[in-house]
Amino acid sequence: MPPLRVLVTRRLPGIALSMLEGRFHVDLQRSDRSLTTGELRLRIRKAHGLLCLPSDRVDRSVLEAAPLLRAIANCAVGVDNIDLDEARRRGIGVTNTPGVLTAATADLTWALILAVTRRVVEGDRLVRAGNFAGWSPTLLLGRSLEGKVLGVVGMGRIGRAVAKRARAFSMEVVYFSRTRLRRQEETVLGAHYLPLKRLLITADVLTLHLPRTPQTKELLGFQELARMKHGAFLINTSRGDIVHEPALIGALRSGRLAGAGLDVYAREPKVPARLRRMKQVVLLPHIGSATLETREAMATTAARNLIAMLERKASPNQVA
Ligand code: DGY
Repeated sequence: MPPLRVLVTRRLPGIALSMLEGRFHVDLQRSDRSLTTGELRLRIRKAHGLLCLPSDRVDRSVLEAAPLLRAIANCAVGVDNIDLDEARRRGIGVTNTPGVLTAATADLTWALILAVTRRVVEGDRLVRAGNFAGWSPTLLLGRSLEGKVLGVVGMGRIGRAVAKRARAFSMEVVYFSRTRLRRQEETVLGAHYLPLKRLLITADVLTLHLPRTPQTKELLGFQELARMKHGAFLINTSRGDIVHEPALIGALRSGRLAGAGLDVYAREPKVPARLRRMKQVVLLPHIGSATLETREAMATTAARNLIAMLERKASPNQVA
């Protein structure tokens, strides 16, 4: 029997590719950009398996164009780039890569919290521009974290890892999540549950760690942002359209929010010019999981998932 065909939409770090090449006929998309949906539709026609990235839109039209497709391994924990209902309808398995990116994403969340509250990027720009004129008692005054309230929305793996790190900064932690943690977990993390409305008015720094689902789309809109504490900071390393972007821009402009640290955007890779002009905002290019170790682990996990599905074995990371 000829080997099964697998489409890999981008070069990956580590051994993932060689794991697949040992077993399947691999069609690797070599250019360093995402395939358009049209290109993906053409390229996937003969594939039995797909290893794809969060930047690949695997919508119904792509699945319709892939009559042989049996398995999709997303190299990400989020699977909002894939039409899961359609995949289920067609009996196509879908997996993600949970766990391996938890620490990297939590660390980057803290990098954003510190960058935005301590004006790290503004300081860097000032020095590079040759404008550092010596120590000043009022130069780039930020805000302290000690004793402030960190509000975590979404207490999955990443939310919990972010909450755990808050201790090192002597912050109080409150959280909102679809499922409340067990009492013992709350005690270990030192985290108190609050309904979302209460959380919004309580947090000095609000950080989002939710999957993007129809229920979480624009969870934070005009009303919710208007409820936030005056001068609070918003951090988003989950998915961009969990926040209504124009509402966020409005809240930053009015000063309701003192700043934001963003790794994700509603229409990636587009970032609104109005956001790009704001100096109280730190903007990163969706690099929450971007450490060498983590990306290698994600790619290996995705390859392992794909192999398991195509060899009709159970994969622990099956989401559809
Ligand atoms: C994910 O895994 O969902 C991230 O957004 C990409 O690392």
